[in-house]
Amino acid sequence: MLAIGCDHGGFELKNHIIGYLKEKGFEIKDFGTYDENSVDYPDIAEVVCRSITSGECERGILVCGTGIGMSIAANKVKGIRAAMCTDVYSAKMTKQHNNTNVLCLGGRVTGRELAFMICETWLGEEFLGGRHQNRIDKISNLEK
Ligand code: RB5
Repeated sequence: MLAIGCDHGGFELKNHIIGYLKEKGFEIKDFGTYDENSVDYPDIAEVVCRSITSGECERGILVCGTGIGMSIAANKVKGIRAAMCTDVYSAKMTKQHNNTNVLCLGGRVTGRELAFMICETWLGEEFLGGRHQNRIDKISNLEK
């Protein structure tokens, strides 16, 4: 199960991403927001991230205006490793090396088609483990 959420700045892109990924067969749980009224992105980041740390969802996608606020908020939640990506290479590497469980996108920054490629790349990658696991363990230690 893939969790997805946005604020008003990411609302339009989130809807396009949901449509695209559902067509590709992904099962998606949409945590809102559900219209263009202004909301606070940390509230949405929190519910999406908690759905991941609780085990309800495996990964999440968060969209705000820049993707930056969502990534800052998401990375405050213990067990979450979130990356804001604006290119396909970073999307690939952040799964392989950082084992990110949340991808953040900027609805006012990244075009629809590029966002689709970023999502699909990130969702199609696996964590490489090995030396990268040692580094993830060190990140986890920072949470203590
Ligand atoms: C909302 O105006 C905007 O600040 C938000 O979507 C996001 O870009 C924050 O990082």
